[in-house]
Amino acid sequence: MAIRLGDIAPNFTASTTLGEIDFHGYLGNSWGVLFSHPADFTPVCTTELGRTAQLKDEFAKRNVKVLAVSVDALDRHAGWVNDINETQHTIVDFPIIADHDRNVASLYDMIHPNASENFTVRSLFIIGPDKKVKLTITYPASTGRNFLEVLRVIDSLQLTANYSVATPADWKQGEEVIVVPAVSTADAEIKFPKGLRIVKPYLRYTPQPDLS
Ligand code: BEZ
Repeated sequence: MAIRLGDIAPNFTASTTLGEIDFHGYLGNSWGVLFSHPADFTPVCTTELGRTAQLKDEFAKRNVKVLAVSVDALDRHAGWVNDINETQHTIVDFPIIADHDRNVASLYDMIHPNASENFTVRSLFIIGPDKKVKLTITYPASTGRNFLEVLRVIDSLQLTANYSVATPADWKQGEEVIVVPAVSTADAEIKFPKGLRIVKPYLRYTPQPDLS
């Protein structure tokens, strides 16, 4: 069954390159990114896992744990990780699930039979500390994901979780954010002491509240 925003991310146990993992236990109180790859020793996947490893500090800064899924077996993962480290000039130290029984792929609907019977598509889930699914994206095998965009979405989600704001199109760190409609302008004036820029009664901007 498809996983929808707001659902509790299904829990599972799985063999990974870092040992047996209980997914919810692995996440603990962190945010999580669970993302699937069609297969080991494939070029686009190699760049994606390398890029994720290169961004280790950015994920850590945001209290995010990453977990990759691939339907190949553990011994193949080990050889592939060596290749990723060598070719992408990084060290993969997050776990990769060996989902050879396709348990995780089925739970998260990562196999789209009309795209491929055997391999997962590029699914990605962002999960909050409450274990609820905050974002899902699905890319085809031929298109590598943009991990800076994943970080940008996490920044937006974390701002929304901590303040009554949303983020506009193409928003980037440091830019104005939007006051959510549920907050009245009178309340917004108190809540956002940096001030409001009111374009329409329903379109109200304020400087990013977590920056000094
Ligand atoms: C890749 O990761 O390069 C890839 C995997 C499956 C199909 C196409 C590309």
